[in-house]
Amino acid sequence: MSLRGRRVLVSAGPTFEDIDPVRFIGNRSSGKMGFAIAESAARQGADVVLVAGPVSLPTPAGVSRIDVRSAAQMHAAVMAALPADIYIGAAAVADFTPLSVAPGKIKKQAGVDTLTLELVRTPDILAEVAVHPRRPRLVVGFAAETDHVEQYARGKLEKKKLDLIAANRVGIVGSGFESDDNALVVYGRDGFERALGPASKIELADNLLELIAVRLA
Ligand code: PMT
Repeated sequence: MSLRGRRVLVSAGPTFEDIDPVRFIGNRSSGKMGFAIAESAARQGADVVLVAGPVSLPTPAGVSRIDVRSAAQMHAAVMAALPADIYIGAAAVADFTPLSVAPGKIKKQAGVDTLTLELVRTPDILAEVAVHPRRPRLVVGFAAETDHVEQYARGKLEKKKLDLIAANRVGIVGSGFESDDNALVVYGRDGFERALGPASKIELADNLLELIAVRLA
């Protein structure tokens, strides 16, 4: 099925939340899953915008890429890129960011063995896109879970008002973060459920976009 003429907005990779000029809070996302989706959508003729966190992957052919670092920057870039026909949130966005960034490197203090960081919630980009006045026709999230995968994924599907959510298990070798392969279970609001893989992230991206394209037809 073709995505020709469709505008597809994809987020990928981690976000880095700065603590001071030399340290940050990050996560293990390599960007491979989101980049594979962007690549696959472009191959199927879509006009693709990829908002990428800090990763070292080449830009897929035919994709417009916007590089960001923090959750706040990713939020701004995604909102600025609307409208779109489809939004796919494959990025691992930090849920919390330091309340303030220290202007200089935080130094150890003699006799003090602890350091307390005050963190505040980041905007939920996916949930905001799903209720945006220019809401894409299809809003697709990811759920990265170590356990209770279906329960948590379905919870996010409902709470964030998504059309589909692709759940993947993280914390094990051969799926989720960093690996070239993955396994997804896609859930829809109407009780839909489809297992994809295990397979390469490229193959899974093709399969996921097939499910999405059918819903746009
Ligand atoms: O990048 P790779 O190494 O290839 O790994 C792929 C992946 C494991 C990162 C990917 O497949 C994946 O699961 N991405 C979502 C990771 C995640 O942050 O999941 P979550 O369950 O914490 O978040 C749920 C959804 O809300 C996600 O679509 C996320 O993009 C979105 N979100 C979360 C927080 C936030 N502040 N804004 C968001 O938009």
